[in-house]
Amino acid sequence: MEIDGKTGLIGLIGNPVEHTLSPVIHNGISERMGINSVYVPFQVEKEGLEDAVKGAYALNILGMNVTVPHKNQVMEYLEDIDEAAGHIGAVNTLVRMKSPDSKDTPKAGYKGYNTDMLGLRRQIREDGISLNGKNTAILGAGGAAKAVVYMCLSEGAKTVYLLNRTVEKAEAVAKAMNAFYAKEVVIPMALQDYGKIDEKDLIVFQATSIGLAPDTDSAVLEDPEFYEKVSVGVDLIYNPADTKFMRLVTEHGGKAYNALKMLLYQGVIAYELWHDVKVPRDIVEDVYTDLKRKMYQKDNIVFIGFMGSGKTTVGKELAKRMKMDFLDTDSYIENRTGKSIPEIFAKEGEEAFRRLETEALQHLRDTVKNTVISTGGGMPLKRENAGLLKEIGRVYYLTAADSIIYERVKGDSDRPLLRGSNPYERIHELMKNRAPLYERAADIWVDTNCNDLEEVIARVKKDWAQFGNRIKEQL
Ligand code: ATR
Repeated sequence: MEIDGKTGLIGLIGNPVEHTLSPVIHNGISERMGINSVYVPFQVEKEGLEDAVKGAYALNILGMNVTVPHKNQVMEYLEDIDEAAGHIGAVNTLVRMKSPDSKDTPKAGYKGYNTDMLGLRRQIREDGISLNGKNTAILGAGGAAKAVVYMCLSEGAKTVYLLNRTVEKAEAVAKAMNAFYAKEVVIPMALQDYGKIDEKDLIVFQATSIGLAPDTDSAVLEDPEFYEKVSVGVDLIYNPADTKFMRLVTEHGGKAYNALKMLLYQGVIAYELWHDVKVPRDIVEDVYTDLKRKMYQKDNIVFIGFMGSGKTTVGKELAKRMKMDFLDTDSYIENRTGKSIPEIFAKEGEEAFRRLETEALQHLRDTVKNTVISTGGGMPLKRENAGLLKEIGRVYYLTAADSIIYERVKGDSDRPLLRGSNPYERIHELMKNRAPLYERAADIWVDTNCNDLEEVIARVKKDWAQFGNRIKEQL
């Protein structure tokens, strides 16, 4: 993104801000949508908060996110506050209001929203979780829990059991929320009193900080009897991806989710408010892949490219030299299904094969590390697969000219896609269609026209070493 005189500024106020993932979301959207704005984190001390908000307005900053520890205090410095955010008592997004000389809104300042709550709502709706008429429970009664209580009530939950170590805090939150809704829907309890909940299909939100990395081996409640009551568990923590709370939920037959999508959507919703646009779905999905990569970066090397581009030869040799494991997705699928690839193509068709590839990638994403993976030539054609490959590792696209590919594969009778009278024409046609998809799926291109294994390996190793240093800095 080139910064010029028209570049708009958006940003984040918090303390600390070094580890924020929000730039990945906002700058990722701007870049993909071609919108000329840049997102920058600002570290702001408590004493400087008022000046920061006023200064942001004076600097014509379009909007701001606000994070810990300012979400509450910032409300004092706003011109207006969205109703939901007011009830929750926390604001994470400031949206610039019109200038004072506009007749309709004679206000100069920001309006505060709580897109954390809106983001969580979008996540659970998308995951097909309906709260209407359901019994819910929330573990914790801090700032995050309050937004969840509000969401449960606004989505029509029948009951919200609010469990907290300090029961007085749960009581205070319940009192305020029940008064607002003029119903006794929120029931405050001490954590250890969960036995009094006589329900079987609870939808539970984990809103304490217990289980957050590096303390990944604990959950705020660990008793099996509690989890027997749970059908769905949503952990507001997303680091690690799989928390102890989530493991306890699934071990007892429930479905578990972390809240990385909540992080994604709170950002997307803020972005939409600031720029008055709708972010298209495919861009949201790509940004989600970026987020997952940034958060759960894996140390695998993935090769994509046309048949004959050298994925297996280069992959095997590289793995040997770098003391990494090697895996070929075609062999992996053959082992799992007990059928050869030509057999799958002939009997079940290409669609079925592509589905097997997606399943294989989902499994690999959750299991492999320190591995070099060579993929089937058609693997990145499906958008979903391209996203999964990026989650698995750094993706190298081995390129070669049509004529070179033809020379490499012409004698090979095992290639189902090349059967026919004019294989060279076929290669040319396939390459033309596939090249843009490979390019899109790749992090790095490596030219293999030189036909020199040493040269190709040296190029990959050089990039991988630089990339490794960047990951180390990031962690
Ligand atoms: P946030 O804004 O993220 O919700 P918070 O307001 O500090 O953060 O709230 C943290 C929540 O985690 C609270 O519900 C807290 O319980 P208390 O109100 O009793 O303090 C809960 N929590 C933190 N550490 C805990 C622990 N060791 N055991 C049980 N609950 C804990």
